[in-house]
Amino acid sequence: MGLLRRVDSYLRKYLSQKSKTKKSLSDFSVSRSSSSSSLATEEGLFEQPEPLASSKSVMDKILWRRSLQLHDQQHSWQESPDGRKMLEFRRNLPAYKEKNRLLAAISQNQVVIISGETGCGKTTQVPQFILESEITSVRGAVCSIICTQPRRISAMSVSERVASERGEKLGESVGYKVRLEGMKGRDTRLLFCTTGILLRRLLVDRNLKGVTHVIVDEVHERGMNEGKVLTNLRIVISDRNAHLMPDFLLIVLKDLLSRRPELRLVLMSATLDAELFSSYFGGATVINIPGFTYPVRTHFLEDILDMTGYRLTPYNQIDDYGQEKMWKMSKQAPRKRKSQIASAVEDTLKAANFNEYSSQTRESLSCWNPDCIGFNLIEYVLCYICEKERPGAVLVFMTGWDDINSLNDKLQANRILGDPTRVLLLTCHGSMASSEQRLIFDEPESGVRKIVLATNIAETSITINDVVFVIDCGKAKETSYDALNNTSCLLPSWISKVSAQQRRGRAGRVQPGECYRLYPRCVYDAFAEYQLPEILRTPLQSLCLQIKSLRLGTITEFLSRALQSPELLAVRVQNAIEYLKIIGALDHNEELTVLGQYLAMLPMEPKLGKMLILGAIFNCLEPVLTIVAGLSVRDPFLAPMDKKDLAEAAKSQFSHDYSDHLALVRAFEGWKDAERGLAGYEYCWKNFLSAPSMKVIDSLRKEFLSLLKDTGLVDCDTSICNAWGRDERLIRAVICYGLYPGISSIVNSVNARESEIPYPWLVFNEKMKVNSVFLKDSTAVSDSVLLLFGGSISQGEIDGHLKMMGGYLEFFMNPSVADMYQCIRRELDELIQNK
Ligand code: CDP
Ligand code: MG
Repeated sequence: MGLLRRVDSYLRKYLSQKSKTKKSLSDFSVSRSSSSSSLATEEGLFEQPEPLASSKSVMDKILWRRSLQLHDQQHSWQESPDGRKMLEFRRNLPAYKEKNRLLAAISQNQVVIISGETGCGKTTQVPQFILESEITSVRGAVCSIICTQPRRISAMSVSERVASERGEKLGESVGYKVRLEGMKGRDTRLLFCTTGILLRRLLVDRNLKGVTHVIVDEVHERGMNEGKVLTNLRIVISDRNAHLMPDFLLIVLKDLLSRRPELRLVLMSATLDAELFSSYFGGATVINIPGFTYPVRTHFLEDILDMTGYRLTPYNQIDDYGQEKMWKMSKQAPRKRKSQIASAVEDTLKAANFNEYSSQTRESLSCWNPDCIGFNLIEYVLCYICEKERPGAVLVFMTGWDDINSLNDKLQANRILGDPTRVLLLTCHGSMASSEQRLIFDEPESGVRKIVLATNIAETSITINDVVFVIDCGKAKETSYDALNNTSCLLPSWISKVSAQQRRGRAGRVQPGECYRLYPRCVYDAFAEYQLPEILRTPLQSLCLQIKSLRLGTITEFLSRALQSPELLAVRVQNAIEYLKIIGALDHNEELTVLGQYLAMLPMEPKLGKMLILGAIFNCLEPVLTIVAGLSVRDPFLAPMDKKDLAEAAKSQFSHDYSDHLALVRAFEGWKDAERGLAGYEYCWKNFLSAPSMKVIDSLRKEFLSLLKDTGLVDCDTSICNAWGRDERLIRAVICYGLYPGISSIVNSVNARESEIPYPWLVFNEKMKVNSVFLKDSTAVSDSVLLLFGGSISQGEIDGHLKMMGGYLEFFMNPSVADMYQCIRRELDELIQNK
């Protein structure tokens, strides 16, 4: 379409101006200075500490000496009582006993795969062993170890732990870097970061210059995408890629190994499918750290029901289709406290048609819905443990952050667990504060029972030592992607057998434990062995752009080298390529267009990148920044269960004209004003807005603006960029440009009060499937906006829509739009004439 082509030529103009100043594309992303800004560049944190080029050997010596000084400091610390205690703790970890074997393997092999029970010391010890041995060796000065973590929170907490194990402050020899945050100093040799951060580094530095060791931790964790719900950053931009990364990263790293023969790669995981990884790297060395855990007794739902006085028994029944296994629930002699819980279970069984639960197939799992009984059952088991069981912490695996919150509130409010002074109730999820984290690791006073409500983050990333009881609801929220309908779903889904075993194992760290599984044994039997890798579950658009911009060959060929199931990927890849062509990021040869090159530079979903670019070109940047930042965080409009009507009324004063996006812009501007008068919180309270989300939006806006300056699309003087920021029709058009082809005609929308909506189309950000399909974050747009700013529409439609374009011109008073419009208009006329 004309507009796409015009945008492309605008961008090309910028690009050629840029290249005149002798900057390559990739330079843009590093050109931002990492000065005093708290949002130091991601790449800046990887830079070599000093310019090594000129006097390399002298510099090396100085650096090495500094490293040794730190090392000496650490030695003297180890002599102190605290230090000795810490060393004692470390020496008792299974990994410590394997130190020499591990180091020898790493020095002799380019790729080493390490597996071992969760908590055996892989994450905290292995990188430290390498660091220690490198510092005392000749290479010490130049050693640079990167250890990737699947989640922000693990990168942050692990680096803090490792620094404290060394008696150092964070940012000395150990640092971390996650999106928007980091701590690294000139002496930092060991950097923990998210997989997404390493990817960004690879984008600008294909050979990982200066890096000596790459450790990919939790490599089995193929991205349980909890970040999406849990952290404030709902679509965690570069971390959005992070959950795709294990697979992607491995392909890239495998390529890199041949170019960097001295680079060492270590893959670590608790439940690693060692064979798969080893053969992927041509038979790489595998080292297993022998661990020790105490036996854990498993109680399935049947056993739990038994405690309540009910029994679940299978029996065979002959029906029309032959023999089928059925389930029957029968009452035993009633005991105390069962009535409530038993009837909850009974209701669920009925509702889930559990009696018809027939065979042990994955599909039939959907019949069994523990959510209906979830809380009651968890409460019941918790009460049971608190009343009847021996001392020991309880770890409850729940589906998601929202469930955790509500159960937490309920338990706190109702004193269900008895004397509140004897219970320490904590939550554990991806976005908890670090002060909260520490409480989780601490052992409570004697007589107090620690109960931790956790997401699957406590499965492998975080180890709580004193857990004796595990309650497992059997589900986790993960994104899955329905390629057929091009819909991403955020649904609670069943965990895999590996995950279930991992969860159970958490109970046996210090003594024999108990694991309560809130699902029947047959449901467990039907679990998949492994979780489907995320690469098979999410849209691959960003990934495809990265592949092109890293010049890794054709997308299809590159992804056919994926670790697992390249066949399954094929359809999805085609889908993504199609999408990228529709939005104009790839041309018909699947090469990046100029727009595509820009989109690859912006670390966000292509559609959000497109909005920013057009917002910059059309000088309506301020509101677009807000929209894009808003789409990147958890919905800032709150809807508390008990005040739904009030919350809706509050939102409707912003969204009177059928745009969630414009509503956000207005809410944010209101907040900004209030914040200036120091009344930000009050404003949020009154309007049912999340103050933390507003703050994140504020800081993301700044980040995005500086990214745009890097790309050269925005001048340092930003005043012109907003000349048209008040033209809401223009903003609607920009939203449409970004979200196309996410479009639906109003007739399909369930909630819309159809007759009132002034425009016939809704562009939407996301089509989510939670029970039924609904559109998230939508804006109503007119025919002409869709026509001009959407993608390709068929001839017939153009014909029809053109008629409605009268009166449209005033919208294009903005000179740059008018210019573009004239062009498009001419092309459209030609189209019609040729018909
Ligand atoms: O990576 P892996 O699961 O093998 O173990 P790790 O994370 O290195 O943890 C080793 C030990 O350090 C565990 O027993 C943890 O409980 C302990 N640890 C801790 O006390 N505080 C932390 N922030 C992290 C680990
Ligand atoms: Mg670990």
